[in-house]
Amino acid sequence: MVEQWKSRSGFILATIGAAVGLGNIWRFAYVAGENGGGVFLITYLIFVILIGLPLVIAELSIGRRGASDTVTAFEVAGDGTHWRVVGWIMVGGALLILSYYSVIAGWAVRYFVGALSGDLWQDAGEKYGAYFEGFIANDFEPLLWQALILIVSGVIVAGGIQKGIERINLVLMPLLGLIVLGLAVFSLTLPGSGAGVRFLLAPDWSAFGRPSLYLAALGQAFFSLGLGMAVFVTYGGYLSASTRIPGAAATVAAGDTLFAIVAGLAIFPAVFALGGDPAAGPRLAFVVFPQILLQLPGGTIIGPVFFFLLSAAALTSMISLLEVAVACATHRMGLARNQVAWVIVGIVLVLGVPSALSYGVLAEVKLLGQPILDNIDQAVSNFVLPLGGLLVAVLVGWRIERSRALADADFRDTWLGSTWLWSIRVLAPITIAVILLRSLGVM
Ligand code: TRP
Repeated sequence: MVEQWKSRSGFILATIGAAVGLGNIWRFAYVAGENGGGVFLITYLIFVILIGLPLVIAELSIGRRGASDTVTAFEVAGDGTHWRVVGWIMVGGALLILSYYSVIAGWAVRYFVGALSGDLWQDAGEKYGAYFEGFIANDFEPLLWQALILIVSGVIVAGGIQKGIERINLVLMPLLGLIVLGLAVFSLTLPGSGAGVRFLLAPDWSAFGRPSLYLAALGQAFFSLGLGMAVFVTYGGYLSASTRIPGAAATVAAGDTLFAIVAGLAIFPAVFALGGDPAAGPRLAFVVFPQILLQLPGGTIIGPVFFFLLSAAALTSMISLLEVAVACATHRMGLARNQVAWVIVGIVLVLGVPSALSYGVLAEVKLLGQPILDNIDQAVSNFVLPLGGLLVAVLVGWRIERSRALADADFRDTWLGSTWLWSIRVLAPITIAVILLRSLGVM
């Protein structure tokens, strides 16, 4: 018998925990910064509502129907055809994401420890850029911190659904919500913060003409929600029939989006108030932001709080990715959860070596002029996840019979259900396909 969530709120917090992660803080801030702030935010919001939310509902409904793991769920939904293979591919994809995601999570833990002990402020002085580059270029340090946070994730996943995953999220997620709100309030009270607010919330309409905006916003919507790699299929597998899926999915999508906006309001006003560069790319959270904190009264207290937020948010997302694979290995191969979890943590560590060393020993290995980790991140978010979403849409929209698809997702035959199904059948697949083909230069 597969374990189930203890409570509805436990399920919702765990699912928000999966969605809220590095994507909402580190990635959202730098992608929004690179893509013009307000214009990016609007495009991103439209994709979350029209494509993201319907797909969260679709993933959860396949998962609950299967009432087990991803591979089983795809098998049940696809009615004994080769859809099972899609399940296995997603397990592989989840491990691939985990392999580089945990590297950045490791950086966050390192910065948390450094900010807490004061090393970060002393050693770096005014030269955060060099400090950061020195750390990520080290031969083994990034691996060490990556291993640490992977082991913590392993302990929690080995603990099971209720006693591991649900419990940690019940504690961490409300706490993280309070922290991010507090940081935003702090940042918004700085003199000169208004420019940062305007950057994030007031769109410069001319930027809508840039095609790269749409791919970046779509990729960010998928990554931030955690779509396309069967995380919601997996978490839906532990869901009871009494929880209505659309409401839960809307809560999760709204929570994830709100979290990203509030995190943006913690970062950009401070960056603008002190003249930092909002388009600094992946270094925004690790270089620009700490440098700004050091110039502020109380900055050395805010620093550890910010990096705790980043580390803990990453942890609850890593747990979800790990669970996708652990659930499959446990149910399909009949292995014990607490052993499987460790084998998979080991596999991820090995898979993660190229990413962990991609700014050090392997810095010369470049594809398209970028280090390995940047390539994996972009390929995954902008192509692999949307493709995963496309497959889910085809499965739920076209393979499963209409009335069953609606019933599995807790929709009755009302306009709301028809709208959802129309997005899954038509809008989502076409939008995803057009954006992907255009960015590949095919269209
Ligand atoms: N959504 C998480 C974030 O914003 C990352 C994540 C968790 C994820 N599970 C996922 C990304 C599945 C893609 C697919 O950081």
